[in-house]
Amino acid sequence: MRDMHISPDDPLLLRIVDDLATRGWSQQDTFLPESLTLALAAECRKRAAEGELAPAAVGRGVAQEVREGIRGDRIQWLEPGLAAPCDHYLELMDSLRLALNRGLFLGLEDFECHFALYPPGAFYRKHVDRFRDDDRRMVSAVIYLNQDWQPEHGGQLRMTLKGDVEHDVQPIGGCLVVFLSGEVPHEVLPAQRDRLSLTGWFRRRGNEPF
Ligand code: OGA
Ligand code: MN
Repeated sequence: MRDMHISPDDPLLLRIVDDLATRGWSQQDTFLPESLTLALAAECRKRAAEGELAPAAVGRGVAQEVREGIRGDRIQWLEPGLAAPCDHYLELMDSLRLALNRGLFLGLEDFECHFALYPPGAFYRKHVDRFRDDDRRMVSAVIYLNQDWQPEHGGQLRMTLKGDVEHDVQPIGGCLVVFLSGEVPHEVLPAQRDRLSLTGWFRRRGNEPF
């Protein structure tokens, strides 16, 4: 993808929409140009070095708690204006949001995402995104930021697909995985070295009264 300002009609985005419609998940091994992947990885490492990544919590609202036996990653939520590479990524995801709305009528309103760093040995036990954290979450999207990742480094995303078929994704830089948040149980296997990603969710409007 050369241009950051990708159209919602871009064939790459339409492929993702089509995959979601037919089977509920999509994997694009070369979604980001290497320059953007490297810039995002550098941002993530800089934030980690500055101590801005905090232990991730499980649950929502007052029930939120840090439980390292369930997930051991450290995260920082992205806000617009944080850094140019992050803004570029948010723009790409906004085009994907429009493509998903046009193709699947999901009524997705926003996209929230965080950097995640799994130190060696950290994992995330099998879970479903939508019910654990937020029932507004409709579509999950994870982009990996790791250079020279080998299968023996571990850290695979293991998805449980229809018919209990397991599918492993190597967390290789530039690879994007998208899936329906309420339908695909998944886990992160322990890794031998730091595992970097940007993990996000497209959300529909909430029902709560204002
Ligand atoms: C999550 C998650 C998967 C991954 O943060 O909810 O499942 O591959 N992440 O990082
Ligand atoms: Mn998850």
